[in-house]
Amino acid sequence: DQKINILAIESSCDDTAAAVLCNGKILSNIVATQKVHEQYGGVVPELASRAHQQNIVPVIHQALAKANIDKKDVSAIAFTRGPGLMGSLLVGTSFAKSLSMGLNIPLIEINHMQAHILAHFIEEDDFEKPTFPFLAMTISGGHTQIVKVTDYFKMEVIGETIDDAVGEAFDKSAKILGLPYPGGPLIDKYAQEGDPKAFKFPKPKVDGLNFSFSGFKTAVLYFVQRETKNDPEFVEKNLKDICASIQYTIIGILIDKLKKAVKETGITQVAIAGGVSANSGIRQALKDAEQKWGWKCFVPKFEYTTDNAAMIGIAGYHKYLKKDFADFSVTAQSRYKF
Ligand code: KG4
Ligand code: ZN
Repeated sequence: DQKINILAIESSCDDTAAAVLCNGKILSNIVATQKVHEQYGGVVPELASRAHQQNIVPVIHQALAKANIDKKDVSAIAFTRGPGLMGSLLVGTSFAKSLSMGLNIPLIEINHMQAHILAHFIEEDDFEKPTFPFLAMTISGGHTQIVKVTDYFKMEVIGETIDDAVGEAFDKSAKILGLPYPGGPLIDKYAQEGDPKAFKFPKPKVDGLNFSFSGFKTAVLYFVQRETKNDPEFVEKNLKDICASIQYTIIGILIDKLKKAVKETGITQVAIAGGVSANSGIRQALKDAEQKWGWKCFVPKFEYTTDNAAMIGIAGYHKYLKKDFADFSVTAQSRYKF
């Protein structure tokens, strides 16, 4: 039996990541998170590409060492072609091309958003995989989509945000509350001890399966401005309740659209993917949906929710099986639709 070792590289935003997979099983999964952006309250693209340049070789070395795989035993290089920040993508793309050329092995280009979804197919003993067709909701700092998945690379976006991504709604709300970037995980943390019905925020009215979050962020801003006028310490005093109410509203918006998607497609298998799928509220909401509506829900392991190269590796493995290789003229695509 043949061993297919994929070396995967992810550099679409502010995490430099490399992973090695053997026949779809993780041998190593290394992520270097860039700290430089914290002080700016968001990702600074120029600084991100510089940090990728610094991190990429050590991260790949670590991934190979941890996997105990020699360069000459790598079967193919998979890399994130897009979507993402152009300067960041260029680092991974150029590096992957050079490595594939140097080692004389196939090059595989991967769509980052497809990879988030395909993370559900990483081979693990204690984890059940969805079967086709299923619905996937990709929820991250850059994207909010509902995708109908009929095969590994047959995916159709049936709904998406018309403005901000849901991760931005979390992060921008957190910023308004004075929390550091990225604030999503902090809102989640405080929300767990707060009352989700303490404050009411409006839900946007958007047609079909699309989302909108820019109005939500504005509503949070006006709410905080209004309340702090009366009581300058309002946020400090009510932080847990505010976070719980924000999270409750956002999760409600997501679940409403998922319900609609399930109804329209008749598909009751639902997977979530992307950074926001780490959120305890959405995880609980999906558990409830299994109980209440009989859906079958798939929630990724924490380490595969935010950006990582393991997901690029599993997508690469399935392209390898189809011999779907890229040629050296392949370019990074900051907007890469599928
Ligand atoms: O997938 P990801 O790492 O990067 C993108 O491709 O965007 O997602 C990052 C996003 C950030 O907005 C972050 O605040 C959010 O995921 N996030 C969370 C949680 N963990 C990460 N949002 C809410 N609750 C969490 N527990
Ligand atoms: Zn991502």
